[in-house]
Amino acid sequence: PLVALRPLLDHAAENGYGVPAFNVNNLEQVQAILQAAAATDSPVILQASAGARKYAGETFLKQLIEGAVASYPNLPIVMHQDHGVSPAVCMTAIKLGFSSVMMDGSLMTDGKTPADYDYNVGVTRQVVEMAHACGVSVEGELGCLGRLDTGMGEAEDGVGADRKLSHDELLTDPIQARDFVAATGVDALAIAIGTSHGAYKFSKPPTGEVLAIDRVRAIHIAIPNTHLVMHGSSSVPQELLAELREYGGELKPTWGVPVEEIQKAIYFGVRKINIDTDLRLAMTGAIRKHFATNPADFDPRAYLKPAIAAMRKVCEDRYAAFGAAGQA
Ligand code: G3H
Ligand code: 13P
Ligand code: ZN
Repeated sequence: PLVALRPLLDHAAENGYGVPAFNVNNLEQVQAILQAAAATDSPVILQASAGARKYAGETFLKQLIEGAVASYPNLPIVMHQDHGVSPAVCMTAIKLGFSSVMMDGSLMTDGKTPADYDYNVGVTRQVVEMAHACGVSVEGELGCLGRLDTGMGEAEDGVGADRKLSHDELLTDPIQARDFVAATGVDALAIAIGTSHGAYKFSKPPTGEVLAIDRVRAIHIAIPNTHLVMHGSSSVPQELLAELREYGGELKPTWGVPVEEIQKAIYFGVRKINIDTDLRLAMTGAIRKHFATNPADFDPRAYLKPAIAAMRKVCEDRYAAFGAAGQA
């Protein structure tokens, strides 16, 4: 059934596991995730960004997720709005039937400029008021996602770049997190601990200097009843990069968040782990390989089937690694 985020993560907290939240844009991605969840008996968080809603169309996206709910009636499935930039965006998601929304008030509505704390509190509280009245859960965000290994807090997508935030300024402050949760009433909080979105997170395997997993523990102690969320949690597996390169893909050297580091974060209190890039790498690698090795094929199903299988494998691996397998 369709469920809200709060009860799903309450169960994860009671049982000490983490739930991967996978981004979806199309049918094949929804199928890959649900096949993996059914095979491993795992709870499901399907999340759609504003870009996904624009790509697929709001009605298609909603009905794809409803199709998943109807096809897998025994699995708990959350339909989550990823990175809502304004209360208005969250409202349209609630009207569409989403069971959970993220109000990302850490950034202004352009999705780039770091926002003031008071602005963040204001918009997030507003979304909590309307979402909770509808039985919908809310995720907020405090801190700045961005690359720390440049030494100047320069985010990959420009976040924080102009203000030259220091390493520590980018990370979520536990005391401020306590204040934020008290002021807003969010169910879940995305925290900044040195991760960033996309394939280019770290220029070498990350150390504690750039990936502050320890900070999770301090934040969890400060807000024990709020579920912690890790964004930018793709692991960017070297074997997926190698496959892409072997079949003509151009990817610069890069490292993601190792699965073992995510496991530590779950141990310290993280419950929702956002993953998109790894799924993109897996699908595209499989399609490149299929095109290179079967140049005569032109039925889209011929190359989308291996793409689904490759994405499904990543999902199954994460469900197992995060302890979600067997918990549906
Ligand atoms: O937060 C970023 C997710 O990977 C979604 O990406 O905005 O390109 O759909 P997108
Ligand atoms: P990745 O780019 O690391 O997959 O992160 C996705 C994400 O955080 C979506 O909100
Ligand atoms: Zn994110």
